[in-house]
Amino acid sequence: MIEGLNRRVFLKTAGAGAAGCLVLGQASLQAGTARMGSGGDDPVSTPLKTLAEQKGFLYGCEATLSELSDPPYKALVVSQADLLVPGLALKWDVLRPTPETFDFSQGDWNLNFARQNNMKLRGHTLVWWDALPKWFKGYATQQNAKQLMLNHINTVVTHYAGKMQSWDVINEALLPTDNRSDGLRNSIWLQLVGPDFIETAFRAAAAADPQAILCWNEYGIENESDAAETKRQAFLQNLRELRKRNVPVHAIGIQSHLDATDPKFPGEQFNRFLHQVSDMGLKIIVSELDFADGAPDPDVNHRSQVVAAKYQQYLDIVLKHRSTIAIVSWGLSDKHTWLNNGYRFPRKDGAPFVPLPFDANMNAKPAWQAIARSFENAPPR
Ligand code: XIL
Repeated sequence: MIEGLNRRVFLKTAGAGAAGCLVLGQASLQAGTARMGSGGDDPVSTPLKTLAEQKGFLYGCEATLSELSDPPYKALVVSQADLLVPGLALKWDVLRPTPETFDFSQGDWNLNFARQNNMKLRGHTLVWWDALPKWFKGYATQQNAKQLMLNHINTVVTHYAGKMQSWDVINEALLPTDNRSDGLRNSIWLQLVGPDFIETAFRAAAAADPQAILCWNEYGIENESDAAETKRQAFLQNLRELRKRNVPVHAIGIQSHLDATDPKFPGEQFNRFLHQVSDMGLKIIVSELDFADGAPDPDVNHRSQVVAAKYQQYLDIVLKHRSTIAIVSWGLSDKHTWLNNGYRFPRKDGAPFVPLPFDANMNAKPAWQAIARSFENAPPR
């Protein structure tokens, strides 16, 4: 049994087939609602974006351009989400074919898609150690890296100025195991520009677009482990320093690539961190939410229920904080998830992960119910 889930809906879910799914009619998806069955008062009839809007926050999802060319998936994304995060289009390796040029074609496609479908757009990501173009390593030096970074931020943020809900200005800049006293990752940016690359990047982004919410996005800060606590403390230390210096950082992104088998699941230490971040006047975005489940379990129906219970537990903690302004799933249906595309360790039994609210056939899963329930339980902001 899934703790806290609406019993009526859960029973319906569990009885809806081998995969424990709720079937959403294609016609209703096209119409922009995720209605199921006939019950107008059934919570499933309300898309996640509407449940989120009712509480004053956004529900979004990541998608790539090719995924959005899959018609049923496109319909699902448009029906459920009001915030779109291009998964690849705004990373350096797509935007920067050469050191001198910019290719905005994929980013602009996403912007038009978002506009046509009444979605906001979230930019991911301006300064990251990963997804750099092949030319970067042989080209960037201590002499030119700061200018290279500034030119990138100025050009890209100006191109989308006034059109972005938020930007991940900094991604994954912390790594306390690199043993620096400031907890920063010994990344290529730190090595070439120095530790103030973070401040420099935020100031440049704010100058180019005074409207976008500017975020520092991190992973590995969600559970109750010592490693996560150390990273959280390093994060707070850096954020306090930036605030003291009036650096325009507006929000933190918590990636939330979570593990349903994690015994050190979010609890009091994580909750305290969210309080501390909120007390600094910062907003919180759950920016890349999904749940890997690696436990040996041949029953995919049961796995989906375990994942759902974890979703609700996690979102209940984060959404209690009124500073949380958006929840973003990294994908929406299990058909399109990076977890099944070879980016993480596969499950030992070779079965696909079931990390997202919809199954591979675009049917709502218990995770959908859990997310919906958390949204309904969230205090308004
Ligand atoms: C992932 C994408 O989903 C993959 O398609 C890509 O090939 C690798 O990157 N943290 C991040 C995201 O900030 O940009 C990553 O996205 C997932 C981990």
